[in-house]
Amino acid sequence: MKWVIGNWKMNGLSESLHEARSIGDGVGGWTGKVVSMVCPPATLIARMTMHCAGTPLEFGGQDCHAKASGAHTGDIAAEMLHDAGARAVILGHSERRTDHGETNEEVRAKVDAAWRAALTPIVCVGEVEAERDAGRAEAVVEEQLTASLPDALPAQENEDLIVAYEPVWAIGTGRVPTEADIGAMHGQIRAHLVRRYGEAGHRVPILYGGSMKPDNAKAIMSIADVDGGLVGGASLKADSFLAIAEAA
Ligand code: G3P
Repeated sequence: MKWVIGNWKMNGLSESLHEARSIGDGVGGWTGKVVSMVCPPATLIARMTMHCAGTPLEFGGQDCHAKASGAHTGDIAAEMLHDAGARAVILGHSERRTDHGETNEEVRAKVDAAWRAALTPIVCVGEVEAERDAGRAEAVVEEQLTASLPDALPAQENEDLIVAYEPVWAIGTGRVPTEADIGAMHGQIRAHLVRRYGEAGHRVPILYGGSMKPDNAKAIMSIADVDGGLVGGASLKADSFLAIAEAA
């Protein structure tokens, strides 16, 4: 099973509903082979869920607060995302870590919040360019995994965790690591998950994110331990989302 998850970031208004519907209608052919999901701005989750009813397209949030409710102006609880129709939530995206100073410890608390609300957390990790140039990419990702992920998976059987490797320098730049570099990092992440969670670590999907496009998706998806893509820009339009889903 491969995963294609679109991270729409801060893009999308009412007029995007038809784009989501086109994605939903188009991905029907790959049911059972590809899980397709769009993570739109929170304002659109409930409407998209209704607008895409009857299609296999699923929806996710882009962040949540660690608490279930309370005096936190501007924040959104995992329970609210679930209530709106989401089944997953992206956590610790590098844009959250940079723009909002999110720490590994906060991400870890949000993973618990996602589980509490029956959402699948999609935990993002990845090095910045200077760290890769300094030969520290592996160490940085290892540190993020160690501190962002809880020590145990919940006892349920289905996808209780997704990890996304997003080298920060590849996001929105058109630059992509070599296949060897992606393979090495995904192999390292898999080893970490198995060391930490035993057998269950094998069933955690590891997605690649960073300038994934229709023309490189097939090659990237064929790399060992790449279970799919977390796609930004190319997920906004139905034709490129569907081309990536087809490649998967
Ligand atoms: O979460 C997905 C993302 O950060 C990658 O963005 O536009 O490079 O596909 P993009």
